[in-house]
Amino acid sequence: MTVRVPAKVNLQLSVGPRRDDGYHDLVNVFHAVSLFDEVTATDVTTPAEDAMAAVAADDGTVTGETTPPSAATGTATPSGAMITVSVEGDPAGQVPLDGENLAVKAAVALAARAGRPVRAHLAIRKAIPVAGGMAGGSADAAAALIACDELWALRLDRRELMDIAADLGSDVPFALFGGTAVGTGRGEKLAPVPVTGEFHWVFALAEGGLSTAKVYGECDRLREAAGEPVAWPRADDALMAALAAGDVKALGAALVNDLQPAALALCDPLARTLAAGRDSGALGALVSGSGPTCAFLAESEAHAAGLATALRAAGVCREAVTARGPVPGAVIVPA
Ligand code: C5P
Repeated sequence: MTVRVPAKVNLQLSVGPRRDDGYHDLVNVFHAVSLFDEVTATDVTTPAEDAMAAVAADDGTVTGETTPPSAATGTATPSGAMITVSVEGDPAGQVPLDGENLAVKAAVALAARAGRPVRAHLAIRKAIPVAGGMAGGSADAAAALIACDELWALRLDRRELMDIAADLGSDVPFALFGGTAVGTGRGEKLAPVPVTGEFHWVFALAEGGLSTAKVYGECDRLREAAGEPVAWPRADDALMAALAAGDVKALGAALVNDLQPAALALCDPLARTLAAGRDSGALGALVSGSGPTCAFLAESEAHAAGLATALRAAGVCREAVTARGPVPGAVIVPA
């Protein structure tokens, strides 16, 4: 059971005051783009899983053998479920291979609904940058929900899946939802946004990653230092009009990310990356979510390809990739 799931870029990320629970109320205009991870859920026994099963009886959570290019770890749950995971396409080994992996957490949460012991091996193929501000971990969690729901024939309704998704993380519901949507609350309450046509993007991938919690923390710190009151966030009319009309120039001018100053403060080189994209003719340039990926809006597919070449030549990123949006959320890949 394979599920394909897109990355997101935030077209508007307006961050309100910090709430008592540590989260921030947002107006978050999500846009799903054609950079995809794939999660395959199987109930086959892998050799690593065999090795782990014996240990799992003792302490619940176990670590399996590392088998390049993928590694596997098993998490046994109180309901008797056994979840293992392997990851391809993460050369720096940044994706956790234990119960901290958000896709494993998703499968464990779903297993609790099964009412019988279930098992799954999750094979994740990554193309979405890890810790890049494009919700890659959230995407994998959403994909794992859909894949395990199907594998275990649970057939939960959409509402139940969305509720489990929201418990897993603020960006997980959108990875199920897809398209273009406005997220309020901490980003989990979604409503679709009307869009005409499609938009072409370039994403400049950075060397390392940024912790979302750290970037929000830095945003709070900068705001406190500035001493200005934090406005209640609201959807930007110019952005909504640009999307409805399919007006790419107006969209480029309306892109906004309140987390950008914090991401730039934590990662100096990003200012140069953004400037290089603007100098090369991008219609809009901003840090994607909490960064460090930078997003550039192009006029056409050909313009995006040219921009990507210019960014690579400028030596301001690890890689530059093109994508289009909006695209649908997590979907099962036909066998
Ligand atoms: O919801 P998620 O686990 O993805 O959030 C990661 C971190 O990002 C949170 O622990 C919090 O520090 C920050 N965050 C926030 N306000 C939001 C969403 C996330 O402060 N609306």
